[in-house]
Amino acid sequence: MIVTPQKDAVATAADALRAGKLVILPTETVYGLGADASNPEAVAAIFEAKGRPRFNPLIAHVADSAAAEKVAIFDDRSRALAEAFWPGPLTIVAPIKNRFAVCDLARAGLDSVAIRVPGHAKAREVIAAFGGAVVAPSANRSGRPSPTTYADAVEETGLATGAAIDGGPCAVGVESTVVSVLGGQVALLRPGSVTRRELEEIVGPLAERAEEGHRSPGRMALHYAPDAPVRINVEQPAEGELLLGFGEGVGDPRWSLSPTGNLREAAANLFRLLREADRTHPKGIAVTPVPNDGLGEAINDRLKRAAGFVG
Ligand code: TXA
Ligand code: MG
Repeated sequence: MIVTPQKDAVATAADALRAGKLVILPTETVYGLGADASNPEAVAAIFEAKGRPRFNPLIAHVADSAAAEKVAIFDDRSRALAEAFWPGPLTIVAPIKNRFAVCDLARAGLDSVAIRVPGHAKAREVIAAFGGAVVAPSANRSGRPSPTTYADAVEETGLATGAAIDGGPCAVGVESTVVSVLGGQVALLRPGSVTRRELEEIVGPLAERAEEGHRSPGRMALHYAPDAPVRINVEQPAEGELLLGFGEGVGDPRWSLSPTGNLREAAANLFRLLREADRTHPKGIAVTPVPNDGLGEAINDRLKRAAGFVG
């Protein structure tokens, strides 16, 4: 018998990307569904696999800042943000420099591009082995909670992929913070684990409201939603509702976002618990109040959308 050495998972994933296939990519925030950013057919396959209602712009993931600067135009502030938070859970929207590296479909025809260097080493290894930018939305089907474990990612979109990488449970658990650095303004488009305060320490006060051009076109009202209806800021659950608690002595510890009231732990547990709660087929899922400071802004943002209204 001839034994051929098994190609390692990273090389297999890079080959799949080169062949225009989709790949389940672990990141520190949530699992992504990755494709070659320069290949419109591969990018179209992402929208198809997710069942996205329209072509929202995607985040281009690159291996390091040098690669990012080949794709997008950086100024002093975007460079300072990249230096402070990359690799890590910050996405920077900046003017596009190389329209072929991240194709029109991936940018939804915009003149800007969302870009990040993920903190998860496996993600960077795959991207480096591939050699180009990898667009990756969260690996869930459209509107559902983002997968934060390998098993959840495979369950959501695994059938559509040519390769999948197990990177363990996601340490952060909510999607990256998205900021735009366009036309002399820095605006927060999506709260995440890099907090408003941390951003302001680097670039000063953020723009009050995201103006035209700074909008995040992909943010829908009903998003991150399990099948059961979600109610938030609930003190007392209704009959048949499963209560997700936060903090000491609030609800059943098995269903607690964080029994000690730790926001990092709550973020990391959020989507997994929404999924697990859903699997018990409750009449509804009720979530107790989560403080809105720091990482709480991102948690409450996701909860509001899971409950069906925009913040
Ligand atoms: O943590 C994350 O960011 C994960 C992991 C896989 O990296 N990815 C993720 O991608 O959450 P996605 O596609 O679910 O979210 C991308 C967000 C959307 O809200 C989209 O509207 C915004 O980024 N976005 C992308 N390009 C943009 C652009 N040119 N201008 C404004 N917003 C943009
Ligand atoms: Mg998503």
